[in-house]
Amino acid sequence: PRKIIIDTDPGQDDAVAILLALASPDEIDVLGIVAVAGNVPLALTEKNTRIICELAGRRDMHVYAGCDKPLKRKLVTAEHVHGKTGLDGPQLPVPTMPLQTIHGVDFIIETLRSEPAGTVTLVPIGPLTNIAAAFEKAPDIKERVEEIVLMGGAYFEVGNITPAAEFNIYVDPEAADIVFNSGVQITVMPLDVTHKALTSAKWIADIKALDTDVGHMVASWTDFFERFDTEKYGSQGAPLHDPCTIAYLINPSLFQGRFINVEIETQSELTLGMTVADWWGVTDRPANAMFMGSVDDAGFFNLLTERLARL
Ligand code: BDR
Ligand code: CA
Repeated sequence: PRKIIIDTDPGQDDAVAILLALASPDEIDVLGIVAVAGNVPLALTEKNTRIICELAGRRDMHVYAGCDKPLKRKLVTAEHVHGKTGLDGPQLPVPTMPLQTIHGVDFIIETLRSEPAGTVTLVPIGPLTNIAAAFEKAPDIKERVEEIVLMGGAYFEVGNITPAAEFNIYVDPEAADIVFNSGVQITVMPLDVTHKALTSAKWIADIKALDTDVGHMVASWTDFFERFDTEKYGSQGAPLHDPCTIAYLINPSLFQGRFINVEIETQSELTLGMTVADWWGVTDRPANAMFMGSVDDAGFFNLLTERLARL
């Protein structure tokens, strides 16, 4: 299995991503999960991460708290999407498994230094603060990363937090800039892909029909999450943004994209956090990211149902 560190700000879709990873031990070995401030503040994202691990029956998982704010900016949160807990929908249990005492950024650094070079993949599904902070503090780890598979950015689908920017990149554009210019191999799941991974009434019914704790929780999370996109965009179904990263690691053939240049806007007030993606190759800037554009959504949801049924 591929060894990964998940960096997350749960978030209902983050929760599904974590569950998918923990349900897939043949393909994925989760070395630890680091929380970051994003959808809601850090005190909630680390707590939510522990709720999700306990739901998956993985009290043994190591959960760390990382950065509580972006590198250079005030935190922007998304309670309007995820609710005030970050995991609104079901009644949430109080987690009792411990939070690890070392800082999440140090866990990332220590893990990359102690595992053989080129064997650990980073999976950031929130703002890129922890990853950038680790690269700044310990530049030697960059060449030890196997790959970064992240959810963030947009091209044709442009913004969901401003007209130009996707939330994860917008919250910490300086961090995103560091990551995209790190020289590490990067695979990106932008809104162009994740807005095609929309839950359907049938899929939610299938998940409920599992009649497990995981099935009921996921159904009520996605029900809650869906109301935002339905009201805002008139689309049916909730976009399962973050699970696309994990699905890619399990079955990359579900996704198609292009290896292109992607730069991050860090200056302009109007387009702050925009992922300027050279999809048509109109510049000679060197390619630095595999930018995905489409997903086999039926294959994606079949995989998700099959894996969630294992928990
Ligand atoms: C991203 O922002 C968050 O609200 C979601 O969890 C996802 O990571 C989508 O723009
Ligand atoms: Ca997220």
